[in-house]
Formats: sequence, C-alpha cells, structure tokens
Amino acid sequence: MGNRGTLLLLVLVLFSALVASVGAYEYEEEKIEQRTQGEKWFLLRQLHNVVKTDAGSMRMVKGGYRAGSFLHSPMHIGFISMEPNSLFIPQYLDSDLVIFVHHGEARVGHIYRDELAERSLKQGDVYTIPAGSAFYLENRNENQRLRIICSIVITSESMGWHAFQSFFIGGGTHPASILAGFDHTTLSTALNVSTAELKTFLTRQTSGPIVHLSGSHDTNIWTNFIAQECHKKLAHLKRIVNSAEEASPKQEELTWSLRKFLCTLLSRKGFFKRMNHKAPSTYNLYNRKPDFKNEYGWSKNVDESDYSPLQISGNGVYLVNLSSGSMMAPHVNPRAIEYGVVLKGTGRIQIVYPNGTLAMNARVREGDVFWVPRYFPFCQIASTNGHFEFFGFTTSARRNHQQFLVGKNSLMQRLRGPEFAAAFGIGEKRLKRITNAQHEQVILPSSSPTAGDKAIYEF
Ligand SMILES: *[C@@H]1O[C@H](CO)[C@@H](O)[C@H](O)[C@H]1NC(C)=O
Ligand SMILES: *[C@@H]1O[C@H](CO)[C@@H](O)[C@H](O)[C@H]1NC(C)=O
Ligand SMILES: *[C@@H]1O[C@H](CO)[C@@H](O)[C@H](O)[C@H]1NC(C)=O
Repeated sequence: MGNRGTLLLLVLVLFSALVASVGAYEYEEEKIEQRTQGEKWFLLRQLHNVVKTDAGSMRMVKGGYRAGSFLHSPMHIGFISMEPNSLFIPQYLDSDLVIFVHHGEARVGHIYRDELAERSLKQGDVYTIPAGSAFYLENRNENQRLRIICSIVITSESMGWHAFQSFFIGGGTHPASILAGFDHTTLSTALNVSTAELKTFLTRQTSGPIVHLSGSHDTNIWTNFIAQECHKKLAHLKRIVNSAEEASPKQEELTWSLRKFLCTLLSRKGFFKRMNHKAPSTYNLYNRKPDFKNEYGWSKNVDESDYSPLQISGNGVYLVNLSSGSMMAPHVNPRAIEYGVVLKGTGRIQIVYPNGTLAMNARVREGDVFWVPRYFPFCQIASTNGHFEFFGFTTSARRNHQQFLVGKNSLMQRLRGPEFAAAFGIGEKRLKRITNAQHEQVILPSSSPTAGDKAIYEF
C-alpha cells in the first residue's frame, strides 16, 4: 500500500472514530449488545492453567481466532508465578518467548549457540528465548515470589497444536520427559545404565513442571542438576540428548521433536567451551527514559533498535503510566497489533470498529489483558482514583509510529483544510476551532467540566 493508500485508510479510520463518539448517544441498546460482544473479543479474561504445582503456576490467556469473529489474535499472554526456591524444569517450546519480570528475581538458563547461557533477571527486565531453545527458569530468592509476564508468539509451525507445546527434557511420571517415549532397552543401552536405573531416572520426578529446590520439600534430581557447575549441566543435557538420539524412536512425533531439538540447539561442537558471554543481555524497562513524558504521564516503547533480541520474536514491548484521570489520546497502530496487561490501578479501554461503532468501553483492573487489532482506533483512560500502569507487547519489532487522531500532533491537525472541513460538512473556521482546542498531545489531561467530554467518561 502506497502513502496515499495509507493516508486514505487513516482518514477513514479517523472518520469512524469521530462518528463513533458523535453517535455514542444513539442506538443505546444495540450498542450495549455490541459492546458486550466487544468485551468478549478484546478483553482476554479467561485464564487457562497450563501448569499448577505446589511450587508455582503458569496461566495463560489464549490467542487464535476469537469465537464468532474473523479477528485473529496471534499471541498467547502467559503469567508465570514461582515460589521462593523453585525451578521450572528444563524444557523447550515450539514458540518464541519474550519474558518480562514483573516482580522478584529470576535466573534463566538457556542454550544459546550450542552453549549454556545463564542470566540473572531483576524486576523490569525483558529477555527473549527463541523457539526450540532449551531453557529453565529458577527463583533462587529465599523470600520473594517471582512473577513473570510473557508473550508466546503463535508461529505457523505451532498452529497445529492446541495451545503451545512444552517438550520437557527432564521429567518423570509428571511431567513426562520426552526421553520416556523411547524404547527402554534401547535407551538403557544408549545411556549405558541398567534398565532398573533408567526406570528410577525416568519415574522419580512426580511433582510437576515447577518444583521446590530445597528445604522441607523432598529433594529431587533437579536439585542436583542446579547445584552442578555450568559445564556439568551441559554435559548432562548432552548425555540425555545423545542417548535419545541413538535410541530407537517409538513415536513419529517424538522423533520429530527430538530431531528438531537436536538440529536447532545442540550440535556437538563447542559444547565444553566457556559459558557464552555473547548470549543476549537483558534490557531493563524500568530504567529506560520515557519516550514521551508530560505532566499527565509517560510512555516507554522498546523495539529492536533498542534491544536487538526482539528481532527473533518480532515483538516490541512498552510501558505506560498515566496519572489519575489522564488519557492516552485516541490513536491507531498502523503496523502492529497491541496487547496490554494492567499492572496497577484501574481504567477504561475504548476500542472502535473500523465502521465507526464503539466496540468496547471496558473497565479494567490489575491483571486484565486486552488486545487491539491493527488499524482499530483506541484509547486508554485512567480512573480518577489513582495512577494507571500498563505493560504490553506489540507484534512489530520495528518502530510502530502510532498515529494520533486527536491532540496537537494529530492527523486532524495535519489534514486540516477545506477538503477535510467539507468532509465533515462544516466550515473551515469551525474545524480549526475544534482541532485547536486541545493544546496537549499523546497524553491528555482529565476532562474539565466545561470541556463537555462526557461521552468519554459517562459509561
Ligand atoms: C559402560 O559402563 C561400563 C561400567 O561402568 C564401562 O566399563 C563401559 O566402558 C561403558 N561403556 C561405554 C560405551 O561407555
Ligand atoms: C507511575 O507514576 C506514579 C506517580 O504518578 C508513581 O508513583 C509510580 O511509581 C510510577 N510507576 C512506575 C512503574 O514508575
Ligand atoms: C460494525 O462492525 C461490527 C463488527 O464487524 C459489527 O458487529 C457491527 O454490527 C457493525 N455496526 C454497524 C452499525 O454496521
């Protein structure tokens, strides 16, 4: 699409947004029905348990096609919670993972260019783990729970799975290790251990994918695994994988996953080199200077030009903090689908359909997840009782130039002219008065009683 096409589209969207706010008082019942449907589509409140053990949990809101709609949401948003001294046992996923440490500290180990890289993550850190890369997560802190928010990108390869799929390398009866799928006689030969020993090895682990590392809880093989030196961990992983490779596969699927695993992450060379210091570093979102800031709030956007590992998954991340009553001016994302997770406070999310009807005007609170399709106009409004913080992902790692529909830097300002006035059926002077009334941009102050902003706040 050329520049003209894009402009035309944005003009259409702008009209729609204006029509939506003007027409807000009409068709009341019809609209309520539509908004309920909108909430079902754009507010992701259904949390599914992916993992739940004594030591932690992983819950997720699912992407995919929204029921009864043509809209496709390409991401799952996951919430990982781990108790002090716990381990999410080694696994690899069929999807790219971008993690954000919302609370606590984490230690993540993953295979990067055939080597084990370990990184310490603190609050506010962003890190990426590519699909097929084996990794584990650890909370070594004695007192603090670890909370992580992650985006799981649904790749075309993962489309066939119900949600996304973990392949546990370590495991026992629960979860099952991918090794357990192989013929045991062959596997014991490959590992050079007795079948009895093998049986112990493959059945000991019963406490689920997130386990306690020490203390009153029973110790297990993974405690030892973590206690080992780095190169020993590698050797351990290598041994497991090699033996699996030599063993005769039982199931097609496992062969496939194992081969993929082997190809993508563990070629023999370089296994015992020093730990890889070139593995991606972390990026702290809290320490970043705001990209936009005024007295009503700030926003930070991180893309691949700030943090190159985001290229892998093709995601951007952002953080917004609105002071009470303020709003993010109505805008559209011309390049990206946006996901938001409310971290603190309460507020409203308004989303408008391309045909100019209000799709959703939902009150949101801590933990709520919303998403906004590309080109759909939307705004976020903080409640008047405190500041409103939300964090999120976008589906573009390139700079996503948000187009503001209202405010000093808006499209309305740039398009102001006789044609535009004619489009609204009003005089140029009047249009000028309307477009100049708002002196602020991007983050706008709360409505004053005289401004007549009732349409936004009254629902
Ligand atoms: C298997 O284990 C035995 C006893 O530990 C050892 O003597 C033998 O060399 C091992 N074989 C291989 C192929 O590693
Ligand atoms: C957001 O702003 C409020 C004050 O308006 C402040 O107390 C809070 O710490 C800020 N949040 C972050 C994450 O910086
Ligand atoms: C606008 O589009 C939405 C979503 O496709 C639809 O549900 C709604 O009925 C449409 N409204 C009008 C007035 O055409």
